[in-house]
Amino acid sequence: MAGHGEAIPMRSRAIGPLRGVADVPGDKSISHRALILGALSVGETRITGLLEGQDVLDTGAAMRAFGARVERLGPGDWAVDGVGVGGFQEPADVIDCGNSGTGARLIMGAMATSDLTVVFTGDASLRSRPMGRVTEPLALFGAAAHGRRGGRLPLALRGAANPAPVRYATPMPSAQVKSAVLLAGLNAPGETVVIEREPTRDHTERMLAGFGAAVTTEVTSEGRVITLTGQPELRPQAIAVPRDPSSAAFPVVAALLVEGSDVLVPGIGLNPTRAGLYDTLIEMGADITFLDRRDEGGETAADLRVRFGPLRGIEVPPARAASMIDEYPVLAALAATAEGPTVMRGVKELRVKESDRIDAMARGLEACGVAIEEGPDFLIVHGRGPGGVEGGATVGTRLDHRIAMAFLCLGLATRKPVTIDDGAPIATSFPGFVALMRGLGAEIHEGADAPLARAGA
Ligand code: S3P
Repeated sequence: MAGHGEAIPMRSRAIGPLRGVADVPGDKSISHRALILGALSVGETRITGLLEGQDVLDTGAAMRAFGARVERLGPGDWAVDGVGVGGFQEPADVIDCGNSGTGARLIMGAMATSDLTVVFTGDASLRSRPMGRVTEPLALFGAAAHGRRGGRLPLALRGAANPAPVRYATPMPSAQVKSAVLLAGLNAPGETVVIEREPTRDHTERMLAGFGAAVTTEVTSEGRVITLTGQPELRPQAIAVPRDPSSAAFPVVAALLVEGSDVLVPGIGLNPTRAGLYDTLIEMGADITFLDRRDEGGETAADLRVRFGPLRGIEVPPARAASMIDEYPVLAALAATAEGPTVMRGVKELRVKESDRIDAMARGLEACGVAIEEGPDFLIVHGRGPGGVEGGATVGTRLDHRIAMAFLCLGLATRKPVTIDDGAPIATSFPGFVALMRGLGAEIHEGADAPLARAGA
């Protein structure tokens, strides 16, 4: 569980180019799904490259509470002995999903069509996030949720004893909502259909097919229509988790921020529903080479070579938002050092992430001397050019790992160091972040005694 411990202030500052190899951890979205689908199949699923961030560990603990055997065999190497679709036992205690919206929403879906009552909670960030977007479609299966105002956690979910299949059009672009409905559909007889107007990450569909479920995706005038046949027997799998493009975004952007940098980021998953940031960076003029494109476990992967160079602000196409939704914080940090404005529209989902990311980035960038404009669903960052950002501020990270990492990256290229009030949440998604960045030559200090900037720095 994240967010229950001491805050860890951190500070980063510019000392020189970043060079070397950045081995980023496994994909968070795929890691959650591998544990959940492993728990819903009969027999042993082996997972290599699992992200051992706190979010995923919390999902692993939850799967144990539902009766699966979840065992760590070595670093990133896990075995899950599942109970089969419909085989979940009722957990003896509250399921604490820590900081993870993905964990909470997917597990709610996975249990919503079993005759169980489960109480969910999480840290202060997760308890502030909307859950009605999941409990409403789950009610169509016959599940009943009792939560705090706005459907917030803690909430109790009573699963449907006799679930009916559902046809549901997601009202917002959300892979979590889509996945919750599909996972609930696993234990409902007949066909469950999810329709999404804008494509979102499709790891659940891909992995369900890998586990042997009958799932099809049709592109129609309504959008993507995903049809799942319920009550399959899922076959255990060997899953090699690709490295997370969302985590890779931090060393990639850091290399683009710091003059003279040249960094290799190997083995990054480039599923088109996830890779929007990389298209955006290329449009900004970034020097990124995609080496050795290959298929890894049904997902495209490549090694990324990233070199510093001047960037220009651009208008990010709103249609691309879902494919880079987690990358806007670090893009906003990078945009601060580009020439001219970077316009990010159609991003209102950022307001309901681990924090309100439009507000968190806007306030932090302003404190660093960057002009911004914002509205309910947009953020515009007025870039100051390379070396043009003042920094020198302490930024509130609001229990949000990506806000914390984005500002630590920015601080590598500002005139004065950037301090964040709490870097502890970084462990939810990228436990080795600070060590990895230091290995590339970054100066990041942990602890309240982080040294102050040298005079004149
Ligand atoms: C995720 C979906 C996205 C993303 C999150 C992971 C997933 O959330 O922001 O970090 O693994 O399905 P939404 O479904 O809320 O867009």
